[in-house]
Amino acid sequence: MAIPDEFIQELKARSDIVDVVSSYVNLKKSGRNMLGICPFHNEKTASFNVSRENGFFYCFGCHAGGDVITFIKKIENLDYVDAIKFLAQRAGMTIPEENRNEGLSRLKNRIYEANREAARFYHKQLYTPQGQKALDYLRKRQLSEKTIIHFGLGYSPPSRFELVNYLKSKGFSGTELIAANLANESRNGKPFDRFSDRVMFPIIDLRGNVIAFGGRIMSDIKPKYLNTSDTPVFSKSHNLFALQFAKNKANGQLILVEGYMDVIALHQAGFENAIATLGTSLTQEQALIIKRYCDEVVICYDADEAGQKATARAISILRPTGLNIKVLTVPDGKDPDEYIKSHGEQGSTRFRMLLEKCGNDVEYRLQKLRMNYNTDITQQRVEFLTESAKIIASLDNSIEQDIYISSLAQGLNVEKNAIRQQVSRYNRQNTRQAAKKEQREIHNSISAINDKINTEKSYNLRAANAEEALIALLIFNPDTANTICSKTPPEKFITSFNRKVYDVIRTRVLEGKDISLTDISGEFSNDEMSQIAKILVAHPRENDSLRAAEEYLTVLDEEANKLTPEQIAQADTQTLMEQLRKMKEKKK
Ligand code: UTP
Ligand code: MN
Repeated sequence: MAIPDEFIQELKARSDIVDVVSSYVNLKKSGRNMLGICPFHNEKTASFNVSRENGFFYCFGCHAGGDVITFIKKIENLDYVDAIKFLAQRAGMTIPEENRNEGLSRLKNRIYEANREAARFYHKQLYTPQGQKALDYLRKRQLSEKTIIHFGLGYSPPSRFELVNYLKSKGFSGTELIAANLANESRNGKPFDRFSDRVMFPIIDLRGNVIAFGGRIMSDIKPKYLNTSDTPVFSKSHNLFALQFAKNKANGQLILVEGYMDVIALHQAGFENAIATLGTSLTQEQALIIKRYCDEVVICYDADEAGQKATARAISILRPTGLNIKVLTVPDGKDPDEYIKSHGEQGSTRFRMLLEKCGNDVEYRLQKLRMNYNTDITQQRVEFLTESAKIIASLDNSIEQDIYISSLAQGLNVEKNAIRQQVSRYNRQNTRQAAKKEQREIHNSISAINDKINTEKSYNLRAANAEEALIALLIFNPDTANTICSKTPPEKFITSFNRKVYDVIRTRVLEGKDISLTDISGEFSNDEMSQIAKILVAHPRENDSLRAAEEYLTVLDEEANKLTPEQIAQADTQTLMEQLRKMKEKKK
């Protein structure tokens, strides 16, 4: 029985891997992941890792791994369909009729198409007489032509029927337009444009689909922004504005701001790692998405009271993810967009300065901690210093540590050395943990040589490594996956197991489907899933994913052009000459 894709998506959303595994294994937080004693082999020290953000488990001891469905298959000894039923029951879901869901998947595709057409339509409106005022508005807000095009900004005309009529002429039905929330339904059941006389901001997902719009009024009428309500393709709590651009520019850091205009102004000023929520406060889902694309997030909300409240809330949601958190407060009650503009040509430099000097998590934590103690009382001062030492020891950089030690020593009038000793005590504990981790990693790389699933790996090591890096990259970067998969046939892959994995991923990508581990687990055995999980564990995300992907493809080309030792033994002169010529060309 084929399980409908929509159902798996829902099941996946409702089956948090940490929750599920926790019913069998006692898990403790460890860095980015959760750690416990492996239920699949006998061990005393914990080497069983579960990653909530990436939805998989992996044991460094026995190399069992996979997604939440694989976990249930293994631990309950069930086949794929029964594991799904098991999880569905746990999540309170019943497996639906197949055809109903085929219908939903068709509708979703129609909504994507309608949204794309609408975005084009809105954008073109900017260059018509009635759209002139919107273009003027954007220019007045100092957006360049390039920025307007980059973000695909547009204008929704005031007549309530223009978009609806246009899309109907393109073959979309009223029902589809209402489902896309591009149109509202009038009392007599007729669709009319949802957005009218507004500047339009398309919202785009990581695969490059237009999933929603925000529309800003150009006067004081409320609401200032009107957004697409949740539709079959859009949930405002699961998406972030401009993440499709920012994730490739993150370089470890994302800047979280409040508004669309803040994001756009920052990108234009060269801070292309800025993102925003979509008119709601930050959710846990969004925090996990953010975590997937950076190690550090700078919260840069409005300086007003509401903004500060939102900051405190965002911190409490982001902290459990283990992300490094910084807080940037823009001076003079301005939002980032206003701040940059108010400094004219200096805007970008000034913002960079704010970014560089803004308080990090440690400062913030020390400040908070301090509030819990009355440091005039000796006993409390000692307790405060001991706790502070723990926080400081969590910094990797010893110069940075020294700065905090100095400032604490000065502030509390104690010997710097006393604090330093305390810090280095915790440091040593950290170092021991790091050494253990390194050992695990070495062990892991050696075991790659005895790969049972990908038996061709040992004699195609370079190719297999590039293939695996590419597979992980595609899973972590669905937008790059689109580009790569449409131009890369599975035959490019040299080792057959990796080729099969790629083939499954590629087929789904080309059909516009999701490609997390859970999405593909129906196609692979438990051992194969372990292998794929291992690939993901070994490859953290990359920054410029498209460029990295191109590099891996180049490696595959190079490896494909190499002859195997057997081929060389049998090759005729012409083949060998040809091979030599290719190698020389590459050197040039
Ligand atoms: P702001 O009012 O700070 O908007 O709301 P902004 O982005 O700075 O816009 P400008 O500079 O006034 O043009 C922050 C965000 O809150 C959401 C939008 O996502 C907005 O970008 N919002 C705000 C709404 O969804 N609806 C509203 O009516 C207002
Ligand atoms: Mn603003």
